[in-house]
Amino acid sequence: MARVTFLGHAAVLISGQQTTIAIDPFLSGNPQAAASADEITADLVVVTHAHGDHFGDTLALAQKGALVVSTYEIAVYAEKHGAKAFAMNIGGRYDFSGGWLKFYPAWHSSSFPDGSYGGMPMGVVVELDGKKIYHAGDTAYFSDMALIGKEGLDLAILPIGDTFTMGPDDALAALQLLKPKRVLPIHYNTFPPIVQDGDAFVERAAALGFAGEALKPGESLEV
Ligand code: NI
Ligand code: MN
Repeated sequence: MARVTFLGHAAVLISGQQTTIAIDPFLSGNPQAAASADEITADLVVVTHAHGDHFGDTLALAQKGALVVSTYEIAVYAEKHGAKAFAMNIGGRYDFSGGWLKFYPAWHSSSFPDGSYGGMPMGVVVELDGKKIYHAGDTAYFSDMALIGKEGLDLAILPIGDTFTMGPDDALAALQLLKPKRVLPIHYNTFPPIVQDGDAFVERAAALGFAGEALKPGESLEV
């Protein structure tokens, strides 16, 4: 069993018996943040891409002992800023206590707020305590999501905000390829260009046979 806590925007905390993973911990400056970086501890920080609303408080969590796991470019950047990091790229798998994670493509862009290159944007499948969770990062809908679906997903965490990522219609199409047991919509309502109705999305997903929950920031679900 793994507990998934939605921290607001694309930030989630996934906790298992031995390992806690923060994904895209954008908390400072996030109007939806359910916690500050001070209140969170993680063993690993997984960063899908370098945009400020994803890299976020990565360095603050690293200062408290978390290992940064991301692209080569983001890992090098984090190390330059004093973090301990493990450099990877799309297709790579990283094993940790209680599970593993594997990076998949995402159709997006990836640069740091100062314009420096962040490598390829990624999505990630985490297996923790026997449960498989896909965090899509920021992405458009793409047909190779069918390959990710072959992992056998217990939960898909999908952006629905539109403008910068998939909107609700494409996220519903993505569900048909990913075939997860459940869906958690993210990356919406944080800023005016990405306002969406999470409950309406979950209802439409249910009509297609996919259970889901539009968690409010700070709420959790168990997978
Ligand atoms: Ni982005
Ligand atoms: Mn984003």
